[in-house]
Amino acid sequence: MTEGSIEDVNGIGEKTSEKLKEAGFTDLMSIAASSAGVLSAAAGIGADTAEKLIADARTKLKMGFEPATESLKKRQQMGRITTGSKALDEMLGGGIETQAITEMHGAFGSGKSQIGLQLAVNVQLPKDKGGLGGKAVFIDTEGTFRPERIQQMAKAAGINPDTALKNIYVAKAYNSDHQVILAEKSEELLKTGGVKIIIVDSISSAFRSDYTGRGTLADRQQKLNRHLHQLQKLADVYNAAIYITNQVMSRPDILFGDPTAPIGGHILGHQATFRVYLRKSKGEKRIGRLIDSPSLPEGEAVFRVLGEGVRD
Ligand SMILES: Nc1ncnc2c1ncn2[C@@H]1O[C@H](COP(=O)(O)OP(=O)(O)OP(=O)(O)O)[C@@H](O)[C@H]1O
Ligand SMILES: [Mg+2]
Repeated sequence: MTEGSIEDVNGIGEKTSEKLKEAGFTDLMSIAASSAGVLSAAAGIGADTAEKLIADARTKLKMGFEPATESLKKRQQMGRITTGSKALDEMLGGGIETQAITEMHGAFGSGKSQIGLQLAVNVQLPKDKGGLGGKAVFIDTEGTFRPERIQQMAKAAGINPDTALKNIYVAKAYNSDHQVILAEKSEELLKTGGVKIIIVDSISSAFRSDYTGRGTLADRQQKLNRHLHQLQKLADVYNAAIYITNQVMSRPDILFGDPTAPIGGHILGHQATFRVYLRKSKGEKRIGRLIDSPSLPEGEAVFRVLGEGVRD
């Protein structure tokens, strides 16, 4: 998403914008967050003019408060996509929400990718069947996207398998930079292409491998935070759902604390609105547990991964 260029501010001439850029004011936010004194000194403009530029940048960014009725209105537009399992949907308050990031983490084979594929299919269902009549973007960082599996799930959901494939835009991310660019590029598909969900499977693996032995952990963290922030913004602006996966390894060697703590730490922090921990049970059975949601009680749901897809 573009942060808005400073030329967008009303009343900025070429000279002023040159000077501001030299002084490090490269986007709307940097101007909006500045003060008249700082800005007038940096650009050699009067304080009054600086004041006006700041006010306009803030308007353009829609900064500030709005009545809670506005936020209710926005919440009312929120849509939900069924996971295919009633139990899992119920735990999530009725399916995965738009305007939010839903993260599922768990060990290999716990069902993270299967749920991602299922959501890419289910978003295409009409609203009365638990979908949004929309399309999906699938950012595949681990090379595990399987079109045949989509066809299989689509058939079971009563969707033409070829139509289902056409409605999913897939891209393989080769590294974390590429992953960020793909998320940026998906904005166009959200804006005009009818996409209602972005799936990133997985959110973390490229960052983990790109930052082993190079750069610092703080760099990785910062970049990943920015990526998550970027995704949340897309979710908000386009009323879309974001589904991300994160592999954690079971660590039976840990006696105290959380034995499923991801190696390398909880690198996702708390940026996801809904966080679900998935674990394998007997056979096709899986258990999802909702952790720290803003409005829902903690809970568990048992579901299954079958040939036809995610089910109760
Ligand atoms: N066609 C199918 N029919 C039945 N079950 C399937 C089918 N495809 C996958 N599964 C089940 O889903 C499991 C794989 O789950 P999934 O790929 O979602 O794991 P994951 O959590 O993404 O793991 P990883 O961390 O390795 O990516 C398989 O072990 C199998 O139990
Ligand atoms: Mg997977």
